[in-house]
Amino acid sequence: MRTIDWVDGVVEIIDQTLLPGRLEVRRISTVEELVDAIRSLAVRGAPALGVAGAYGVALAAKQHGGDAERLRSAVHLVTTARPTAVNLARGARRAAARLPEGFDAVLAEADAQRDEEIAASAAMAGRGADLLTELCGAAPRVLTHCNTGALAAVVGGTALGVVAELHRRGTLGPVIASETRPLLQGARLTAWELSQLGVDFRVAVDGAGPFLMARGEVDAVVLGADRICANGDTVNKVGTYAHALGARRAGIPFVVVAPETTVDADTASGADVEIEDRDGAEVISGVPAVNPAFDVTPHDLVTAIVTDRRVIRLDRGERV
Ligand code: MRU
Repeated sequence: MRTIDWVDGVVEIIDQTLLPGRLEVRRISTVEELVDAIRSLAVRGAPALGVAGAYGVALAAKQHGGDAERLRSAVHLVTTARPTAVNLARGARRAAARLPEGFDAVLAEADAQRDEEIAASAAMAGRGADLLTELCGAAPRVLTHCNTGALAAVVGGTALGVVAELHRRGTLGPVIASETRPLLQGARLTAWELSQLGVDFRVAVDGAGPFLMARGEVDAVVLGADRICANGDTVNKVGTYAHALGARRAGIPFVVVAPETTVDADTASGADVEIEDRDGAEVISGVPAVNPAFDVTPHDLVTAIVTDRRVIRLDRGERV
């Protein structure tokens, strides 16, 4: 089952706000509905957002094909629905470049991006599993953060695709999925996907990660990215930086798995990335709260970045 696809003239997504309680497909026929789905995290995760951006432009072309002004503002709405994952704006812009050729060309471009993400997931899984085996030996005990599985892509996933591949090979140790406050992508979505895969896992509160590493219960941290900057700084779900510090202190590898569509060579460093600040009410109600959805892990804390085309060993001085 695909997390996002174009089916019979509409965008179909698995509504991730309902998981793990209900597995429900939502059919989306307007740009406004899609933007709402993106902002509410019904569809989420960098690779899936790239495909959503492209299909959003297809919806815009279908809705407003004859009205240049409305079309432009619909495309802008999609492109800017969330600011941090580079995939969203990139996917939308690539599709928008085909607008002069008409709706069919835009849809063909969006379908091509969907297929690229499917192929990228497969490539990352194999390469990442090989790297983890090389770094940690047989049966690594992995800690992962947020959700980076099929739900964050189209099928497969990034870091969780690597975990799944190690499991398929029979060379995976027990997994820790960190909860990922406040919206619980780890406790809700990753736990659901790991259960489906039959992986041995436990959920931990986010703050436990560095201590579990210090106690010798984790061999590697493996997670995804929303944007990888030119200098290797990695922007990912808030809590990632703390796990990177914990991994460095414990002397274990910190591996980022992301498709090339998440690598942003035009952005020099993490300091240049807009971090989405979400409603404090997602954290707690009744008292003031601050809610950055992402953080920046400095490149010197990253052991390696695995993409669908390469392994970049930052620990050996290789460059993005
Ligand atoms: O706010 P979200 O759920 O869209 O954040 C997602 C993440 O931070 C993921 O770790 C990242 O997109 C990589 S997903 C393959």
